[in-house]
Amino acid sequence: MHVVLYKEEPKSREILAFALESKLGASVSRAAKFEDVVQVLLANNPVDLIICDSKPENATLYKMLLSTGSNIPVLLLLNSTSPQQQNISFPDIKILAGINLDGEPGMEKVIEIIRNEVKNGNLKPTTDDPDYCRVSAELAIQVSPLQGDLYIRLSNTKHIKLFKKGEQLNKTHIEQVLTEKKIKFLFVHRSDYGSFLLKFGEDLKKIADSPTATLQEKEMLSLSAIQVLHELSHKIGFTEEVHELARESVRLVVTTLSKDFKLVNVLKAFAKDRDKYIASHSLMVAHVACGISTKMTWPSDTTSQKLVTAAICHDLSINNQELAKIRTLKELNNNTTSYTPEEITAYKSHPYTSADSLSQANDISSDVDFIIRQHHERPDGSGFPRGLNARNIAPLAAVFIVAHDIVDFICQQGTDNPSFDNFVAEYFSQYSSGIFKRILVAITPELTKNRAA
Ligand SMILES: [Fe+2]
Ligand SMILES: [Fe+2]
Repeated sequence: MHVVLYKEEPKSREILAFALESKLGASVSRAAKFEDVVQVLLANNPVDLIICDSKPENATLYKMLLSTGSNIPVLLLLNSTSPQQQNISFPDIKILAGINLDGEPGMEKVIEIIRNEVKNGNLKPTTDDPDYCRVSAELAIQVSPLQGDLYIRLSNTKHIKLFKKGEQLNKTHIEQVLTEKKIKFLFVHRSDYGSFLLKFGEDLKKIADSPTATLQEKEMLSLSAIQVLHELSHKIGFTEEVHELARESVRLVVTTLSKDFKLVNVLKAFAKDRDKYIASHSLMVAHVACGISTKMTWPSDTTSQKLVTAAICHDLSINNQELAKIRTLKELNNNTTSYTPEEITAYKSHPYTSADSLSQANDISSDVDFIIRQHHERPDGSGFPRGLNARNIAPLAAVFIVAHDIVDFICQQGTDNPSFDNFVAEYFSQYSSGIFKRILVAITPELTKNRAA
């Protein structure tokens, strides 16, 4: 996505440009005066969006856009002297919104509006550069000394080096730099994936075995590990190194499982974050599914390992955080305009493609394979891809489906004080037979007890 940012005041122009580049991967052309805008518009690189201050002189810009037949949308930045949008005389100019940029919320609003336009197909999404893998900033802090250079993304095709290979990072220093620049993600180059994975795998092992690492540190690292796992499996496939990372991630998550299952406490630990949806809901499902198996009195290390592996990998082949939130084909059909035909086809088969990626690794148990293939089946037979019903769904897959339903319910309700009475009431008829009924009976006391936790 190519954005022209026309803003006279240099400091706020730079801050906003950086947010657009780092959060959206947009390519931003900065313009301080109208002539700069004209130059960019006349160049060969097509412009997808203009962001500019709302002021009467914009009339010249609007006239130019109309005279060239351009339908580039405009996002206006309002201020105290120009609180209104200024396009009354130019109804043919598409004004996306007028946003007051004062402070952080204004900036977030700009990003959110652009994201929504991308989601609705009105603006081009930024495609990731296949040569760089995104690593959360928290993780970059953990994996030190670095086994490769770390970059920040300026646009989908441009990355600049922020930290050098071998640099022994002082955590406070890196945290400072990242907070100052409001950076959530750093990038590793393809040539360093191997050594990065090796070092990261070793660090995960150390932390999993460390008697001093806190639960919170382990949970945070698990989340980052799942993110990297998903990202890398899309970039380079489920290679032996990626598989090893999956094994270590499972081991780490297993060490954080609570013997005394307290649903609400577990869920409160994971903040909802749009950039981390796949990783955070996978981790939540892992905890809830293992908690349910405890209530079913089936707990064993092997069962937990199977459930955690399935949770971490069940949406492995989905690359779109929003698409991963869809649970049924009915929901998908109501949202077809938000996704490309390729994404829709891939979504419909993702229980199989995710399981197939995993089956390349020969030590995956058939139970894990079943859980992943059946995770979108429903007890009444309305699920996909096979339309199995309660009698044909494997017991561990049923535990997983219920755990996923609970996590979705929490995500909709908010983690603060979800009313599980509503969950029980809502699912009572759906879980009316076989293993689903037994699971609901086993977990209802826990769910209702946790209501006021
Ligand atoms: Fe899924
Ligand atoms: Fe999922």
